[in-house]
Amino acid sequence: MNYLLDKLTDEVKKAFSDCGFPEELGTVTVSNRPDLCEFQCNGAMACAKREKKNPFDIAAAVSEKLKESSVFSSVEVVKPGFLNLNVSDALLISSLSEMEKEDDAGVSSNVPKKKIMVDYGGPNVAKPLHIGHLRSAIIGESIKRMGRFLGNEVTGDIHLGDWGLQMGLIIAELKERNKEFPDSISELEEIYPSASEKSKQDEAFKEKAMDETYKLQHGDEGNLSVWKRIMELSVADLKKNYERLNVEFDLWKGESDADPYIAPMVQKMKDEGFAVMSQGALVIDVSEEKDSKEVPPCMLLKSDGASLYTTTDLATLVERVKDYAPDQVIYVVDKRQQLHFTQVFRAAKKTGIVPSETELDFLGFGTMNGKDGKPFKTREGGVMRLETLLDDVSAEMYKKMKENEGISLSDDDIRDTSKSIALSAIKYGDLSNQASKDYIFDIDKFTSFEGNTGPYILYTMVRIKSILRKYEEQYGVKDFSAYKLRRAESSAEKALMLTLSAFGGMIISAFKELAPHRVCAYIYSLSNEFNRFYHETRILTESDEEKRKGWIALLRFTLKIFSHCIDLLGMKEVERM
Ligand code: ARG
Repeated sequence: MNYLLDKLTDEVKKAFSDCGFPEELGTVTVSNRPDLCEFQCNGAMACAKREKKNPFDIAAAVSEKLKESSVFSSVEVVKPGFLNLNVSDALLISSLSEMEKEDDAGVSSNVPKKKIMVDYGGPNVAKPLHIGHLRSAIIGESIKRMGRFLGNEVTGDIHLGDWGLQMGLIIAELKERNKEFPDSISELEEIYPSASEKSKQDEAFKEKAMDETYKLQHGDEGNLSVWKRIMELSVADLKKNYERLNVEFDLWKGESDADPYIAPMVQKMKDEGFAVMSQGALVIDVSEEKDSKEVPPCMLLKSDGASLYTTTDLATLVERVKDYAPDQVIYVVDKRQQLHFTQVFRAAKKTGIVPSETELDFLGFGTMNGKDGKPFKTREGGVMRLETLLDDVSAEMYKKMKENEGISLSDDDIRDTSKSIALSAIKYGDLSNQASKDYIFDIDKFTSFEGNTGPYILYTMVRIKSILRKYEEQYGVKDFSAYKLRRAESSAEKALMLTLSAFGGMIISAFKELAPHRVCAYIYSLSNEFNRFYHETRILTESDEEKRKGWIALLRFTLKIFSHCIDLLGMKEVERM
């Protein structure tokens, strides 16, 4: 697929080169003065410096060449040497029609494909899933979906925290209670915090927990069977929660799966001289000359021989390379773990665990704060469970929908719909911020039907759906194959079309930058453009049949682009609200 912007750039590059100027200066961008023009090229200014000529003359020469081209409806030279460009209707319509033909709007063809793993979610078994893990799940899911949409082979791995001290704590506590196995997830959720609390006060208990952890990690049958039971209970509960979040993992692997890879990996690193003893511990030096801040050595084994978070992450890479040979691994984790991943990535490259061309990316996200600016808590000051959060927001949405007197849905439908809208409110509230930034969880703002929110986007889609439904009823049409896009009748319509034409390029750069917030910014402007067009246009009552049909085609295409974006963000659309 050749995107509109690429076509325009090709044309302007050719004009630069026909004038004897460097071709690469012909890059076209979307105008930052939409009041003046749709697109622009600023290459004449750079060209003037290189060629020691007047930028205006350069732009004028290029514009003379462009007059012969059919892709622009107007080309204007503005001081000191800007080229202000408007695209021809014919090109805009043909390029939208090309997009319209393909299921994915033509986005994935021509994009190089990779094998990608996304490591996200990362909950710790036996601890309740709380909102601290919410961001990883929401952002990672969106990254996975974007990668797939572009035709990559993407595998999402939850990478459970299932092998650490928390397991030993639970086992030790069960033994003290003379219980063989925990019976339920709620029992487990009560055991873990009390065992963790006890270990802080009771040194002997802590020793015991460490001992149980050691036994588990060294193949003790009894502890392994308790561990299996804990895993069953936890994973079933996690699956239920992630399903509500519309998050789905391909792999349910965990730290424990990396365990068999640790010993041979460590041995090899020792043999090859990468791992050395330092103050009793086994470490890898990962400092680099360019470091302005010291990057401490990567610890592989503690002095008692125990492995660490770094060790499991390195061994997991050994496993991933062996099983999947990924071209890229993307980790979606709290940004406070930045240093850990710098160490892991450097050690993995240095020791040859991953080939040098494999991309290792850390997408570090900020904290979700409450209105007080501190990490989000329940009203009682505890850690909010994910389920409670979803229930609270759904209840708020339900209340708002009930207040709307015009609503024609049954109570059950309102309840179902409010759940989908709540999910979108939460996800959009999160994803619309640049991931690395902290943000404030503001339920009133997120659930509002106005402004840059999930509900506003869904509402705009519902508006389109309702017009299309009415049209079908009124005109009895089922087959839309003869409905074709037509040249825009108004500037609002043209603006909508231009935004639609930017979809493919937007997705490609959003994925390259691992930036779901760009998709949000895009659908927000698409919503605004659509609503402007809608308010200015009488679609259903238009007497000119051809115009009406053209608009219906435009609405159908707009809805399709919306649906793609909603899906890429892991939100759920609704039919009525
Ligand atoms: N379980 C970890 C935590 O809660 C997150 C895991 C992130 N992924 C990884 N490969 N280290 O902090």
